[in-house]
Amino acid sequence: MNTKHILAVIAAALAVNTASAQDGAVDFEKQILPILKEKCFKCHVKEHEEDGKLKKPKGGLRLDGAAVIMKGGKEYPDENVVAGKPDASWLLKTMALPESDEYAMPPEGKGDRVTAEEQALVKKWIEAGASFGAWKGEE
Ligand code: HEC
Repeated sequence: MNTKHILAVIAAALAVNTASAQDGAVDFEKQILPILKEKCFKCHVKEHEEDGKLKKPKGGLRLDGAAVIMKGGKEYPDENVVAGKPDASWLLKTMALPESDEYAMPPEGKGDRVTAEEQALVKKWIEAGASFGAWKGEE
């Protein structure tokens, strides 16, 4: 891509963001982060100690920072969140699976399901370009 092309792409992306902000874009920090905190953080945050045991992020996936969310886990690097493509984003796909499915998240019996309304918000957020706004979270 030459510089001119890159600038055109950035301009287009900005135009999309502005348009969606006007019709009530999803705010990651206010609307998506609380869902992840409540239903995913138990297993998908930075390595830490808990009750004297070292807890590593499951599947190598962390959801506690913007960069690590985009980086993804072991099986699906770069495909945890694919901006503009909810159908290609494993973050959403795993939430949407029936609890009995082996890939469902949270795993069967290991936490509350993500509701249809919450999934719709995540979908809308990814469709609109998966912007984190000013939020960076943990590095
Ligand atoms: C009780 C623990 C637990 C919770 C809660 C949990 N997960 Fe997971 N997650 C796992 C485990 C274990 C794996 C690894 C699965 C494997 O390797 O078979 C995993 C893997 C994943 C992967 C695949 C990562 C990769 O690239 O390999 C995604 C995506 C994922 N989880 C999303 C989520 C989301 C979104 C939530 C919240 C809605 C969530 N998880 C909640 C335990 C959990």
